[in-house]
This record gives sequence, structure tokens and C-alpha cells, in this order.
Amino acid sequence: KVVAVIMVGGPTKGTRFRPLSFNTSKPLFPLAGQPMVHHPISACKSIPNLARIFLIGFYEEREFALYVSSISSELNIPVRYLKEDKPHGSAGGLYCFKDIIMEDNPAHIFLLNCDVCCSFPLPEMLDAHRRYGGMGTLLVIKVSAESASEFGELVADPDTKELLHYTEKPETFVSDLINCGVYIFTPEIFHVIQDVRTNREDKANLHILSSFEALRLATKTHAKDFVRLDQDILSPLAGKKQLYTYETMDFWEQIKTPAMSLKCSALYLAQFRRKSPGLLAYGDGTTSPTVVGDVYVHPSAKVHPTAKIGPNVSISANVRVAAGVRLMNCIILDDADLQENAFVNYAIVGWKSSLGKWARVQGEGDYKTKLGITILGEAVTVEDEVVVVNSIVLQNKTLNISVQEEIIL
Ligand code: GDD
Repeated sequence: KVVAVIMVGGPTKGTRFRPLSFNTSKPLFPLAGQPMVHHPISACKSIPNLARIFLIGFYEEREFALYVSSISSELNIPVRYLKEDKPHGSAGGLYCFKDIIMEDNPAHIFLLNCDVCCSFPLPEMLDAHRRYGGMGTLLVIKVSAESASEFGELVADPDTKELLHYTEKPETFVSDLINCGVYIFTPEIFHVIQDVRTNREDKANLHILSSFEALRLATKTHAKDFVRLDQDILSPLAGKKQLYTYETMDFWEQIKTPAMSLKCSALYLAQFRRKSPGLLAYGDGTTSPTVVGDVYVHPSAKVHPTAKIGPNVSISANVRVAAGVRLMNCIILDDADLQENAFVNYAIVGWKSSLGKWARVQGEGDYKTKLGITILGEAVTVEDEVVVVNSIVLQNKTLNISVQEEIIL
């Protein structure tokens, strides 16, 4: 049997995702019309002999209750949310629930970061992992040398694919091959985490007589139950014939900011086009709106047939789109109201926000800079003919004059 664990983190980690994280926990933010966490979960469907899926995080249980019960019945696989009482790090969080995860006696455990966007080639990873015969296999990808330092950089043996060297977010360049945050392990991983915890305890006891050392330990190292998968497990195990790598040639991105969620929404819409085209919207401009490229429209949204939408547009529940509206490269969240001839490009329009007639909400489309797209928080009103460019507007604001490159608090 196999189980899958998805690390969803918690509210304190979500600061870079503001202002959208004020209203929804990041793992539930919709990409291509589906919660972020839905994409790795639905990729798990293709794992042979999958017994269960666990989400581990320190968000309140009630935030995930509805989603977890609906996805369990949809996939016909038990999906359960497990709440940590505090952050334990990516490996420490897994360890907290060792007994529950091992209940089905799985031979393999998939571990997925929730905030990555990729094609999740999980069955291929499982096959490779079995061939290598190690304790764990990491999904890796080549990225540009400039961006590699944002991730775990690693060196792998070109023939055996063994992980030879691993450094988390190094200051000087090590390699353009990076850790994708998607792993498969044997249950042996729990012993390794246990060893890290025991070592820390021993060290702390050893130094107990030297108050200076004790102070240093207390301030410089984490609590003994805080274990990071990358620094504390992958780095020391590299080069010991226990960890291997599987390189993906497909798409991969990390989702830390609202702008990246817009980019990843496009990647998942494109994946729907290839794998489940039935999820996308189609229109002819007569009884339904004109649709350009990949577009998702929630069944409860009302879009006027003279509107033109796409590419990369996701429209959530109960959104109203009036006549003559033009939408490109955007995510329109629940209950938003877009009035006649409003225009949106490279933007996220928050829940219950409203755009007046001829209003324009746009960004330049640079996903890597802070104001590269425009973001409207919940219940923002943009009045008729007002233009909002490359700006972030926090919740409950009314804009009656045009703004450019501003953060409106
Ligand atoms: N449950 C739980 N508890 N989840 C956690 C915790 C925790 O205490 N800490 C982090 N996570 C989750 C995050 O939500 C995320 O999904 C994943 O674990 C990794 O988060 P971080 O440890 O903050 O690392 P990162 O995202 O900056 O970088 C990691 O992922 C990159 C790929 O996206 C590293 O492993 C990098 O090497 C890697 O390139």
C-alpha cells in the first residue's frame, strides 16, 4: 500500500500571500477554479494502491472540513486533515502523525509541498524509486542559474541519479538542479527524523553545565521537535546511497505570492486543456460569451454573451459579468460584480468586489515583481471609469480616482 501526505503549512507562513490570505487559507485559494491543494490531491488518483491522503498543517480544522469531506467522496479515497498544535517544520510535522500515517502499514509514503505547481509525475517517481532501491527519491528540475538560489540546490550522479550533495537556498551558486518539494520515502524516514530529534536532545544534555553554551543552543537551534526536511534530513543524507533524484522535464513553479498564483492558474488551465478539456469553458459569442484560449467559469457565474474572456481567466462562484466586459489573465473571486464594459488584465479581483462601468483594473504582467499584477482584496469598489494599474488594494476600499503603482492600505 501507499499513502500520500500533503504539507499545507499554516497561517503564520502565509504573509507573502497577503492580501489574499486575509480571507482564505493559501492552500484553498483557487487556481484554475480549484483549490491549490486540489491539484496535488487529484494527481494522487494515479498512484497505484493508494490507501489514504493526509493533509498536515496548523490551520484550524474547520477551514478544511468542508473541502476534505467533499474531496473524499469525489475521489473515493479517504482524505483527512491532521492539525499540528504548532509548527514542527516539514519533517517534524510528518513525524507528529507517524502512528496515524503507518496505520495501513504502507510500503511507501509520498510527501508533497502544497505550494508547488507541477504535473506531479507520481507513478513515474514510484517506479524510479523502486528501481533505485533507496530510502527516498526527490523530484528535481533544472532552472536558470539566477533563480536557483531561491530553492534547495543539489548535485546528482548523472548515471545512478544518486543525490550526492544538497544545500538549502545557498548564497553562492552550487547547481541549477533544484528540489521541487515532491518526495517519496520508505517508512525508514521516521527513524531518520527520530535520530535527528534524539541527537538534539543528547547535545542539549551534554551542554547543560555550560550556561553559555546552553544559551547559544537555545537561541541558535530550534526546539528538538522542529525538524526541517531539507536542512536536517536531505543535506546530511546526501552521498550516502540513500537518496535518489527523478528529474521532471515538465512545468514546475513555486507559489509563494498572489502573482505566482495567477501564473500557476494558467499552467493548470493548460493542463486541463490536455487532460480534462471538459472542465474548460467554450463559447461562441451568441448565446454564450466569446472565449479565447483556456478559461474556467464556475457553473453558478453569470456571464453576459457579449463579454469576451480569455486567455487565462478563472471565474469563481456567483460572479456577475455584464455586457461588453473584457477579461484577460485574471482570477475573479466569488461574488464579484463586473459592470458594463469593465476591463481586467493581469489582475486578481477579490471576493465581493465590484468594478463600475468602463473601469479598468490591470497590471503589466510581470509575475516576479511585487506590483507586476494588480490585486484587489475583498469587497473593494472601483467606481465607474476609474483605472487601477500595478497596484495592491486592501479590503473594503472604494476607489473613486485612478491609481498607478500604489499599495492602498
Ligand atoms: N504542516 C506543516 N508544518 N507544514 C509545513 C511546516 C510546518 O511546520 N513548515 C513548512 N511547511 C510546509 C509548507 O507549507 C510548504 O508546503 C512546505 O512545507 C515547505 O515549506 P518550507 O519548509 O517553508 O520551505 P520552502 O517552501 O521555502 O522551500 C522548500 O520547498 C522548495 C520547493 O518548493 C524547500 O524544500 C526547497 O528546497 C524547495 O526547493
